[in-house]
Formats: sequence, structure tokens, C-alpha cells
Amino acid sequence: MAELGVEVPGLALANPLMLASGVQGGTAAALHRVAASKCGGLVSKSIGPDAREIYPGPVCVEATDSVVLNAMGLPNPGVESFTEMMSQNEFSKPMLVSIFGPDSETVADIAKKMEAAGATALELNLSCPHSKPGSRALIVGQQPELIKEYISAVKQAVGIPVYAKLTPNTAQVSLEAGAALEAGADGVSLINTV
Ligand SMILES: Cc1cc2nc3c(=O)[nH]c(=O)nc-3n(C[C@H](O)[C@H](O)[C@H](O)COP(=O)(O)O)c2cc1C
Repeated sequence: MAELGVEVPGLALANPLMLASGVQGGTAAALHRVAASKCGGLVSKSIGPDAREIYPGPVCVEATDSVVLNAMGLPNPGVESFTEMMSQNEFSKPMLVSIFGPDSETVADIAKKMEAAGATALELNLSCPHSKPGSRALIVGQQPELIKEYISAVKQAVGIPVYAKLTPNTAQVSLEAGAALEAGADGVSLINTV
């Protein structure tokens, strides 16, 4: 059998295939189902400070041939509910918890709570392309200075590895990646939805 194990900062994975942050990572049942597959690790749905409902449907449409548009609206159960779920469940695969928030202080606070609840690592969602137009959630991932502010705040708050999830909606993604690494990110996740 080929040896597919990989190590990246803070994570030893049986193989390099991981669940991407999204609809299969929002509940304990779904995460256990994915963990039971042969994946190397899990990434949760992005979790923010408060519960958010999904947008009224349709949230996924085929716009033209081979072009699918999706906009879920970052639905999630909120940090309190998600940490309670984490403390009641043990997952058989390393668990990166994806987090987001309206400002760096809020995200750092969520990060602390996720670490205390047992997250193996964090993925900071700086990039969701369909959060409210004009909101900071969209702007952060396109502005190296804001990326640095968010990553620094989270790195100061926790001891577990922090990954920066970047947006493809930029002219030169190496600028945002460089800012994240300069601020102390342990790695980058490429990329959010095109
Ligand atoms: C329905 C849906 C929900 C998603 N939710 C999240 C999310 O909560 N947080 C996040 O960082 N990325 C989210 N993503 C982005 C995916 O994690 C992934 O980065 C993106 O789909 C690009 O990978 P792909 O080209 O293989 O689809 C979502 C994508 C889809 C299609």
C-alpha cells in the first residue's frame, strides 16, 4: 500500500484529502459521517458569533451551461451552539474549525472558544464571496492590512495552528497569502468559491 500520510503545521493526516468547509461540516451527524470515510481530516462549516439562517431559496442555481452560482449566506449555528456540540463529540479525524466574524476582536474570541472546545486547528474564513456586499467579511480577504490584523489577533489568542482561507477574487493572491504568513498564519487554504 502506498504511504499517503502528510504533515502540515499542527496536523498529521493519514492522507491529504480533507472535507472543504461547507454544508457537510455544520452538524455532528454530518461530521461523523465524513470522518467515517477515508478522508484525512475535517473542516467545519464556517462558524460566526451568532446563529444565522440560510438565505431564502434558491441558494444554488445553474445560471448557464456549466456555470453554477451559489449563495448560502453563511448559515451556521453560532459559536455557543457549535462549541457545545464539540464538547459532546469526539471526532475520529483531525478537526479544523472554520471561523469568521465582523471584526478581529470577535474572531479572536471565537477562536479561543473553539480551542477550548477541542479544535485541532482553525481555518480563518477571510473570503466568503457572498456575504453582504460592502461588509467587512468580504473586504478583509482583499486587503492585506486587514488580513494581518485578523491573523495577528487570532494568533495572539490561541496556541493551535491557524490557517488563512483566501479568496480567488483578487488580482494577485500571493499578496494576500504573503500578508497572512507575515502575520503568523501557519498556512493558507486556497481557495474559496469562484
Ligand atoms: C454550498 C457551499 C457552501 C460553502 N460554505 C463555505 C463556508 O462556510 N466557509 C468557507 O470557507 N467556504 C465555504 N465554501 C467554499 C468551499 O469550501 C470551497 O472553498 C469552494 O467550493 C472551492 O472549492 P471547489 O472549487 O472544489 O468547489 C462553500 C462552498 C459551497 C459550494
